[in-house]
Amino acid sequence: ASIEKGGFEHFMLKEIMEQPRTFRDCLRGRLKAEEAYIKLGGIRDYIDEIISAKRILIIACGTSYHAGLVAKYLFEDLCGIPTDIDFASEFRYRKVVITERTVVLGISQSGETADTIVALEKAKKKGAKVLGICNVVGSSIARLTDAGVYTHVGVEIGVASTKAFTGQLAIIYMMALLIAKEKGSLEYEKYRHLVEEFDQIPDKIEQTLKNTYTAVEQISAACRTASSMIYLGRGLNYPIALEGALKLKEITYIHAEGYPAAEMKHGPIALIDENMFVVFIAPKDKTYEKIVSNIQEVKSRGGKVVALVTEGDKTIAKMADYTIEIPETDKIFTPVLNIIPLQMLSYQVAKLRECNIDQPRNLAKSVTVE
Ligand code: G6P
Repeated sequence: ASIEKGGFEHFMLKEIMEQPRTFRDCLRGRLKAEEAYIKLGGIRDYIDEIISAKRILIIACGTSYHAGLVAKYLFEDLCGIPTDIDFASEFRYRKVVITERTVVLGISQSGETADTIVALEKAKKKGAKVLGICNVVGSSIARLTDAGVYTHVGVEIGVASTKAFTGQLAIIYMMALLIAKEKGSLEYEKYRHLVEEFDQIPDKIEQTLKNTYTAVEQISAACRTASSMIYLGRGLNYPIALEGALKLKEITYIHAEGYPAAEMKHGPIALIDENMFVVFIAPKDKTYEKIVSNIQEVKSRGGKVVALVTEGDKTIAKMADYTIEIPETDKIFTPVLNIIPLQMLSYQVAKLRECNIDQPRNLAKSVTVE
């Protein structure tokens, strides 16, 4: 087993560390920065259908749902297509309205999640075109969808999904950029710039892993005995707050909640005292100033602040108890880099707490029964 783990102590650690390579594998043959070229063979015949879609509906569970939430923000922001997202288990038992020209996108690492399978079958019966993003080649979902794209990150063994998540993000970004270019909703120069920047992401994931290691280690030691933590982010990083919190719950058994940062004052703020760790995802984007004031609100109530900031950010570094510096990239790509130290944080905390990291209690890699 230690050979399979490539010398790492756990599959999860191996899979976290592999991400610069697995992300690059997702891009291989699909993105050429010099030519500002993106090609997704699997959905080539459906591009017109997506461009003229009146609505995109995303269906997924768990971590894949969080990737879908990033997709919702991107499809609306870059492509101007109204996009909704639903948990497969909810979609399954609701009366759903599928109007004309709805494109459904199912996201699933395993391609075998029972709820997602049934939900996508239901969407198909209702006349929607159903596309998929899967990791496992030939899986049930890969077979039942009309078309799709594989993440190609290799087998994921750790129950807590890591490289499959960033692989899903890789595909989602390429899809959104491609659709935006074809649709003309993104100016060509801007598109070109984003493709070039996106091509740097695998290297930046690598830098992130290196540069954040020590900070994450210190923070893990500090919060190993916490009984609860709150993760806050806004916009594209709101799903990352959810995913960061999920990672913590799954493998450390510390209760965690992910929330949109500004919603904090409608509830979670009541939980803040000197024992509460609050993780803020605070890149330099248009909500930066708002996040700064949210941090002040937490500090003034005695909470401990862990902040993920853009490299060189002095303002937040002065306020936060702990900072994790993330390499600079275009603001739309920050989710990919921000999730990396949050995965590592959960891993380190779980290790300190001597948890069964690759096989957390009560969880399954793939939920094939209801
Ligand atoms: C289980 C796994 C999660 C995964 C979810 C959805 O809960 O433990 O890691 O995100 O299922 O799985 P899927 O294979 O459909 O992405």
